[in-house]
Amino acid sequence: MRLIQHKKEAYWFYRYLSIFYDKLVNPLFWTKRMRDEALELGQLQEPGLKIIDVGSGTGFTTEGIVRMASAEQVTCVDQSPHQMAKAKKKPALQGCTFQLGDAENIPFGTDAFDRYVSAGSIEYWPNPQQGINEAYRVIKPGGIALMIGPLEPENAIARFMANTWMLFPKEEEYLHWFREAGFQDIKVRYVKPHWVTGRGEYGIAVSGVKPQAGLSPAAGHTPPVSETAEKMTLGRWLQLAGRVLIGSIAGFVFIPAALFGYLRRAFSGQQDVPEEYRERLNGYQVTALAIIVVIIGLVIYGLA
Ligand SMILES: C[S@@+](CC[C@H](N)C(=O)[O-])C[C@H]1O[C@@H](n2cnc3c(N)ncnc32)[C@H](O)[C@@H]1O
Repeated sequence: MRLIQHKKEAYWFYRYLSIFYDKLVNPLFWTKRMRDEALELGQLQEPGLKIIDVGSGTGFTTEGIVRMASAEQVTCVDQSPHQMAKAKKKPALQGCTFQLGDAENIPFGTDAFDRYVSAGSIEYWPNPQQGINEAYRVIKPGGIALMIGPLEPENAIARFMANTWMLFPKEEEYLHWFREAGFQDIKVRYVKPHWVTGRGEYGIAVSGVKPQAGLSPAAGHTPPVSETAEKMTLGRWLQLAGRVLIGSIAGFVFIPAALFGYLRRAFSGQQDVPEEYRERLNGYQVTALAIIVVIIGLVIYGLA
């Protein structure tokens, strides 16, 4: 059961997560190095491209995009005003266009952009095929769509927690959605942060080219899911609160794993990594790590 793979649940999840998303959470799981490697597939350097970043959040991936294009070329779409408010304050993103909206029903016309980018957002979409059909619709013929997202973990416990939290698709699913949407020349690249040392892949970037103008050939089979219009009864509010709470707990168990992975790496010097990509814990993460160590110590002390 994917508890946060839902528009309302995702909205409330990011209502509070946006407060510490950039400082504590995002740098552990989606690093600058991963971002820049994944963005290469999007071929964003050509001058004058119109680029849409869907599920742009606090603008971390957008900051990577504007290393290759000017901010004026980029339109950011996200359903969370709280995430978007953070992006709007970033100096590098002054000049971008910001638009609140749904990835499964993008508030822009057909054949409007040269490039579509979405990073780390598909996990929350109730109907990923619809979102990818929308990626197809909004770009021009010859345009490229780039979808970046997580892969289902190989480890059984991690897989259970991940699938409780949100959507971690298999590689075949990404490829199937791209093919169904009508994309051609589909390419794949894998990315992972340095602390992930186990077998198996962690994250994937998938790109595809739109061969002809207009809607996706799959658009007819996947009607938009209109959850935003759903009636909120007391029962639904209680269900939403429970889903956000349990889904958040399932997601947060990955934070200690990442923090300890970073700590291990901190002693290695990272000589093999260019300076700008060296990953170090910031003050917020060190504080979180200290709190976790204290809690573990108290639990062990209590059990002894
Ligand atoms: C993990 S964040 C990724 C943000 C950003 N792309 C980055 O690289 O840091 C996921 C974002 O997807 C947004 N999101 C989730 N469901 C969405 C939907 N249906 N339409 C638009 N945005 C959505 C969330 O509000 C959140 O900001």
